[in-house]
Amino acid sequence: MLAVALLALPTLAWAASGAHSHPHSAVNAAAPATSKQPAPTAAYDRTTWQGEAQIKDANAECTYYSYPPVNAIISSYPVIWKTADLSAAGISADDKALFRALNATIPQIQPRGDRAGNFQGVVYDGNTDPDCWWTYTRCTTPKIASLQDDVTKCDEPNTWGLTLDDGPNCSHNAYFDYLNSINQKATLFYVGSNVLDWPLEAQRGLADGHEICSHTWSHPYMTSLTNEQAFAELYFSKKAIKEVLGITVRCWRPPYGDVDDRIRFIAEALDMRTIIWNADTDDYNWITQGLPAIRKNYQSILNNQSAGAYDDSGAIVLTHEIDAGTMQLNQEFLPQIMKQFTGGVLPVAVCMNNTEPYVEQGSYVYPNYAQWASGTRSVSLAAPTAAPNSGRLILDAQASGGVTISGATVSSAPSASAAKQMKPSGTTGSLAAATTAAQSGASRAVVSGLIVALVGMIATGLAF
Ligand SMILES: *[C@@H]1O[C@H](CO)[C@@H](O)[C@H](O)[C@H]1NC(C)=O
Ligand SMILES: *[C@@H]1O[C@H](CO)[C@@H](O)[C@H](O)[C@H]1NC(C)=O
Ligand SMILES: *[C@@H]1O[C@H](CO)[C@@H](O)[C@H](O)[C@H]1NC(C)=O
Ligand SMILES: *[C@@H]1O[C@H](CO)[C@@H](O)[C@H](O)[C@H]1NC(C)=O
Ligand SMILES: [Zn+2]
Repeated sequence: MLAVALLALPTLAWAASGAHSHPHSAVNAAAPATSKQPAPTAAYDRTTWQGEAQIKDANAECTYYSYPPVNAIISSYPVIWKTADLSAAGISADDKALFRALNATIPQIQPRGDRAGNFQGVVYDGNTDPDCWWTYTRCTTPKIASLQDDVTKCDEPNTWGLTLDDGPNCSHNAYFDYLNSINQKATLFYVGSNVLDWPLEAQRGLADGHEICSHTWSHPYMTSLTNEQAFAELYFSKKAIKEVLGITVRCWRPPYGDVDDRIRFIAEALDMRTIIWNADTDDYNWITQGLPAIRKNYQSILNNQSAGAYDDSGAIVLTHEIDAGTMQLNQEFLPQIMKQFTGGVLPVAVCMNNTEPYVEQGSYVYPNYAQWASGTRSVSLAAPTAAPNSGRLILDAQASGGVTISGATVSSAPSASAAKQMKPSGTTGSLAAATTAAQSGASRAVVSGLIVALVGMIATGLAF
């Protein structure tokens, strides 16, 4: 039954435009949606997240609507789904000055390839991996000692860290209703451009008790960007989440996992912890590989669990909110996952005992692991609150003690104990590892051990 429903999905629309068609642009904030369907807005309340959450028809859900708090700020942001830079009006002169001070301290690592992940001609020494470039070696322990390790796993045995990338998705109501029905929470990695396109859906994620992290402004390969662009991608995603939901996030996941020490440094300066994964469903590829292939991937993680792979520490699993197919697959497998992963299926913040993951203290409190294990799913969560023009993110972070910028010196002040407690698992420095999972489906060529040419990685579209 599920298979039939999935196969009926409009895959062409996803491939051709999908997330990239949007109503907002810096040029014309009020442009109406270019939907083929007549907008059924009259029948629905599309002014609150509660109203939006009532819509069960996917076409209606994905018909654009106008949301005044977003209209008030959209022109101050970079163009939706385009690489961010600091020319947008939404960064204050003060924050720009802070960026310039920061820039002098950013590791001198050259950008590589392009935002679509074409690394043709890029020269990199994968043997020494000087920049801890994940895409090449799966490195998650930075070479720069002051940087925090990436988070790659849940410490608690037999846990499944439920992480959903690329949202908010306009058609997520059925899946989110299901999660509510089983009182299941996740970590949601939001793309800033999607947050401004689908603000009420973004709010629902927070209101339902999920943890929110950033997944950049426009979903580029981050190591391809200049310092300024990389900073702006993180800055404006953080700002969009703050202005639409009311929270200042302190975690992010690099699109495609593409991160190195330069990008980690910029993220830490913006008070954001890098979160990767140690198990991958490859679910976004259901469109090209078919559902059985993805079911095999899920089953492989379950089999690994049965074989004891998570007896010492748990998984953080990469899944996506990107379309109805990935969400339905997750729904299909969750009952079995919950049965087998006896340590719990939980958001990353919970398995890290990070009960207050946002800068706003006191208002958004999540359970720690012990509380979760004894059944608590939410402690106290203020309502999502759009807060247009609500502030200077770097200075907010400074107030929280997360980052200190003085003159040209940046200290992200990771606690020494926290910095090294997350050890990567399943990553190797081999050339083979560099050219497998993340680039699955991509053609590639490796020349002389030092030149890696990864061509056509964008062919699979918005992946990871
Ligand atoms: C930032 O620093 C790099 C060198 O590390 C330099 O090439 C670039 O021009 C600087 N950008 C700005 C906006 O100052
Ligand atoms: C299951 O474990 C094997 C062996 O460690 C690993 O290669 C594979 O990637 C795992 N499956 C998934 C989907 O993580
Ligand atoms: C969400 O999912 C729908 C249905 O699969 C898809 O058409 C749409 O492009 C997705 N993306 C966003 C950003 O909502
Ligand atoms: C979380 O707290 C529990 C005690 O409630 C402790 O056993 C566990 O080690 C902590 N986990 C982390 C990642 O700090
Ligand atoms: Zn992604």
